[in-house]
Amino acid sequence: MSNRKLLITGGAGFIGSHVVRQLVLKYPGYEIHNLDALTYAGNLENIKDVEAQSNYHFIKGDITDADFIDRLFQQEQFDGVIHLAAESHVDRSIKDPLAFVKTNVLGTMNLLNAAKSIWQGKSEGKRFYHISTDEVYGSLGAEGLFTETTAYDPNSPYSASKASSDHFVRAYGETYGLPYVITNCSNNYGPNHFPEKLIPLFINNIINEKPLPVYGDGNYTRDWLYVIDHARAIDLVFHKGVNGETYNIGGFNEWRNIDLVKLLCKQMDAKLGRNPGTSVKLITFVKDRPGHDLRYAIDATKINTELGWEPSVTFEEGLRQTIDWYFDNPQWLARVTSGAYQEYYDTQYEK
Ligand code: NAD
Ligand code: TYD
Repeated sequence: MSNRKLLITGGAGFIGSHVVRQLVLKYPGYEIHNLDALTYAGNLENIKDVEAQSNYHFIKGDITDADFIDRLFQQEQFDGVIHLAAESHVDRSIKDPLAFVKTNVLGTMNLLNAAKSIWQGKSEGKRFYHISTDEVYGSLGAEGLFTETTAYDPNSPYSASKASSDHFVRAYGETYGLPYVITNCSNNYGPNHFPEKLIPLFINNIINEKPLPVYGDGNYTRDWLYVIDHARAIDLVFHKGVNGETYNIGGFNEWRNIDLVKLLCKQMDAKLGRNPGTSVKLITFVKDRPGHDLRYAIDATKINTELGWEPSVTFEEGLRQTIDWYFDNPQWLARVTSGAYQEYYDTQYEK
């Protein structure tokens, strides 16, 4: 594939920063442009180790601004797009659904229109890669796994907005011949994860000896994947995936929230030199999330057999590396939890 000039959107966020690092370091001959609006979730500190590389360029900009996106594509004539920019937190989507429609649906539409316009009639070797989530499939019961043919059945405003954007990407492929791939990935964890999501929120609270707010009875189940394994999968699908295909990505690693939190408490006690059983006492069962999906679990057979991808780290090891990263980067945690974070926290957890 002749993709040499790439646009990565959302590259200052959690997953995007790992994707930017993976591609900038692995492909010195590429020109990689990272477009990010630097919302509360975007942080240039996440990628400061690669910003001096000559093949890396940062653009501050908003994907909801159609004129700006059009001009950017006309000017830069990208060969490929890896689209990660999104509003990504389910709890925020419950409070402000429209923000999710704007960024996740309209923002994606703007990128699709711009790509269509510059690639029309010369789409050979071009690729629009849309990064999505397993949450578009809705909720599983106790049995079964999501496959690429599972019907979409989103339950939260977040997953509905992601499902909508996935449909538009597919529609642009069918209707206008836009060359695309989509991946639907399970829950990620790892370094640089913003502490509004379960694992980093609880790491931060354990450090500060604050309550660990487990929603409902804690029996909800997620399939966890180390973020660097997701970045490796994205690199692979971008280069080796087949146009018009969808690939599910997951860790074959299901955990009930309450079991995960207990493991985290155990590892954190060891790291902090606290007596075993100290942090588990911080667990507090709180009001459930409305529309809370019971269980997500991915069947990652297709990406495994067709592209040869598999996770490289066990959950215990990935969690240890994640905890080590937060301990090695206290200034990162301090900065992202100052100011507006506290306001969010107090509203979400009704202090
Ligand atoms: P994140 O919230 O950490 O980062 C999102 C990034 O997008 C931030 O840098 C933010 O500044 C940027 N952004 C937001 N709105 C923007 C706009 N209007 N214009 C330009 N940039 C904007 O999210 P994440 O967890 O890294 O998720 C990245 C992508 O992966 C999302 O599309 C998400 O749906 C998908 N995904 C996430 C997970 C997960 O577990 N986190 C799992 C599967 C798929
Ligand atoms: P989260 O990290 O928000 O990811 P998602 O909702 O996209 O799966 O939540 C993971 C699970 O943890 C989910 O079942 C909700 C639950 N959860 C809590 O119990 N307490 C919390 O404070 C948060 C943020 C999540």
